[in-house]
Amino acid sequence: MKKKALSIAVLFAVLPVFAQTKTPPMGWNSWNRFHGNISEALIKEIADGAKKHKLAEAGYKYLVIDDCWQAKELGGKGELLPDPKKFPNGIPALVKHVRSRGFELGIYSSPNKRTCADYPGSLGREVLHARQFSDWGVKYVKYDYCPTRNKEQHLEREKIIERYRCFNEALKRGNPDIVHAICEKGWAGGVSRYHPDNKKRMWDLKKSLSKEEKKNPPRLFSKKEMVEAFSWSADYGVMWRTSGDISAKWDRIMHILDMQEGLEVLCGPGAFNDPDMLEVGNGKLTASENRAHFSLWCMLTAPLILGSDLRDIPDEVLEIITHKEMIAINQDRLCKQAVKVLDTGDLEIFTKPLSNGDLAVCVLNRGESAVEADVKWSDLGLEKGTEKRVRDIWAGKDFGKYKDRIKSSVASHDVVVYRLSL
Ligand code: GLA
Repeated sequence: MKKKALSIAVLFAVLPVFAQTKTPPMGWNSWNRFHGNISEALIKEIADGAKKHKLAEAGYKYLVIDDCWQAKELGGKGELLPDPKKFPNGIPALVKHVRSRGFELGIYSSPNKRTCADYPGSLGREVLHARQFSDWGVKYVKYDYCPTRNKEQHLEREKIIERYRCFNEALKRGNPDIVHAICEKGWAGGVSRYHPDNKKRMWDLKKSLSKEEKKNPPRLFSKKEMVEAFSWSADYGVMWRTSGDISAKWDRIMHILDMQEGLEVLCGPGAFNDPDMLEVGNGKLTASENRAHFSLWCMLTAPLILGSDLRDIPDEVLEIITHKEMIAINQDRLCKQAVKVLDTGDLEIFTKPLSNGDLAVCVLNRGESAVEADVKWSDLGLEKGTEKRVRDIWAGKDFGKYKDRIKSSVASHDVVVYRLSL
């Protein structure tokens, strides 16, 4: 073989080793905890806190500034300007600080004239704004469709999708590896308007229903229609929001969990359903609820975007959000989203196949008192008579080999997560 041909052959042989699978993005976003109360000083402290707590070592990469970072109006050339009071040194200075702490900066804009909190959006200025983000060194952009604020609840599906396509193309031109986080919630497919998630909003919207819709009143969506509503998203983004806003309440977290059913067909390397940012460590969630919420998002192969105050993280929260084995399940390179295999009311079991042939199993107790769960291999799709080694992820314990079933006690609003292997 000639020398050149040989080196090309060697290159192709080693390339797969370096080709990285795109696993769910990990980071932090300012919205859940701080809403509009953000500033350069805060984001710097957050970056310092994230470094202090070794979050980069756990896999977290992006620190994302959500809505309200902008000045109230665009600049003379149509450019986005940071609020001069909140971000006096501009975004590149912040990128530098965040990078010096081991992270990358993310930012927020909208495919509308105004953002959800009424700041200027990027509609019609996609190329300019994408170039600004790329020049600033931003590595993640959340692009949030805000129909109510802009009275665009009735915009045609194609037009909404075109707005995302156009911005994605502009973003990718500046940086092909940028994380484009779509936050559209299924408006293009009508989901956000008629899904049970949005009952309240649905009634608010009743006044604004079109003639056609008045004739055919809102109804619930089937799983097939849900999937169809998000079917375009992976073409233009790495992740896409599949629900309305999360809150630090158990019922809301469970409701969002339910909405993910069926969407697993859309999930794969570099393409992730996004059930919204984590509330772990926020509000009055108990230790069990925090653990369950984190475990379920890991099982769903969801982006792990923290939403609490990283300056001061209580030990029990830090232990959860940096849990190596749980994060490994989320970041598994097969990128399979967990599916529910058993639902007996309060008790639900989810499974997620992993790249080395192991199976992650999450036993969830949604009820108000502890349950004794009988986890049967047959419910998990395993053949009768199969022996599996069982590791309890949160207990950090190997239980040895089990045949056909394992009994687990699961506390109220809590989970037990197993890794089953040969
Ligand atoms: C929407 C999004 C939230 C947040 C706010 C900001 O509600 O769903 O995640 O970005 O807008 O205004």
